[in-house]
Amino acid sequence: MMEFETIAVIGLGTMGHGIAQTVALAGGQVRAFDINAKDVQDLHSRVSRNLAVMVEEETIPEVNIEEVLSRIICCHDEMDALTGVDFVVEAIAEELQLKQAFFSRCEAAVSSKTILASNTSSFPMSKIAEGLETSSRMLNTHWFNPPHVIPVVEVIPCAQTSPETINRTIRFLKELGKHPVRINQEVPGFVLNRLQIALFREMLDLVGRDVISAEDLDIAVRGSLGLRWAAVGPMRVGDFGGWDILSKVYEVLATELRSDARLPEVLEQMRSQGELGLKTGQGFFEFPAEQQERIAAEKDRKFMAWAKLLRDSYDA
Ligand SMILES: NC(=O)c1ccc[n+]([C@@H]2O[C@H](COP(=O)([O-])OP(=O)(O)OC[C@H]3O[C@@H](n4cnc5c(N)ncnc54)[C@H](O)[C@@H]3O)[C@@H](O)[C@H]2O)c1
Repeated sequence: MMEFETIAVIGLGTMGHGIAQTVALAGGQVRAFDINAKDVQDLHSRVSRNLAVMVEEETIPEVNIEEVLSRIICCHDEMDALTGVDFVVEAIAEELQLKQAFFSRCEAAVSSKTILASNTSSFPMSKIAEGLETSSRMLNTHWFNPPHVIPVVEVIPCAQTSPETINRTIRFLKELGKHPVRINQEVPGFVLNRLQIALFREMLDLVGRDVISAEDLDIAVRGSLGLRWAAVGPMRVGDFGGWDILSKVYEVLATELRSDARLPEVLEQMRSQGELGLKTGQGFFEFPAEQQERIAAEKDRKFMAWAKLLRDSYDA
């Protein structure tokens, strides 16, 4: 028996389709809905393709794909998707009013026990839940892309979220094979996006000043910080290195680091030239149009290989 038997996934884009897949793969019954009928229609074939690649990459064991798909009911009506479910995951567009309106409709549609989770990347749950009677059963479960591959999910309750809602959600995410991490306060960007932007500020500054090339920066981080962080985590790296030494380095360097709120010049320039990365064919690296699909698929396969390594190292 899973913590929740029937789960609605609303919004089946980049995130929602992978979340629906993850739940169904773990044995949950999914009711899936998107306002775009094509996303609903394509859901089974999308999940089927993902699963085939994951089996090929040995991210998951051999699986009966048809059986997994039989647990995903495609709904063409929001109310139909929400009826009788124990848990709702909202993965619709990142617009506050849309999300507020959706959860307000949920109030009338779900039972008094149903837990309501948003996948918002930026809005505090307290803002989305404002004025709703369901707020004690609402929280943010912030998944990472691709959601069926990246293990971590940030769990961010708001002040009104009940301890039972938090605990049951964490148990459920663990049942899905995820690594939920609880964020104790509603700070903007939660935790991982804060870290990512703090590092990007410094990295873009260094690359912009030509202290290092983008290519060498990737080599440097992958083969040092990235490897150590993936293997044991940054806080343990600190414990292993010794905080006396790190304190000295911190004191010397802290005043040298970029600390202003302006967009780094190199990023400003790339943005104005439309060099936005893979989607426009040019970022720090070049992505010829005819190779973009292959490059994106290869990137996902690399994530899968590293996720498998990580899982094996946790299991060991
Ligand atoms: N893409 C990411 O890397 C990422 C990572 C973490 C969190 N998120 C968050 O997840 C959510 C979804 O992001 P995404 O990248 O999957 O977006 P997306 O644009 O790929 O998908 C959103 C889907 O929601 C559907 N939709 C919009 N309004 C709807 C409604 N009222 N009812 C039902 N369906 C509706 C759209 O048709 C679309 O298919 C956002 O809140 C986003 O901030 C995204």
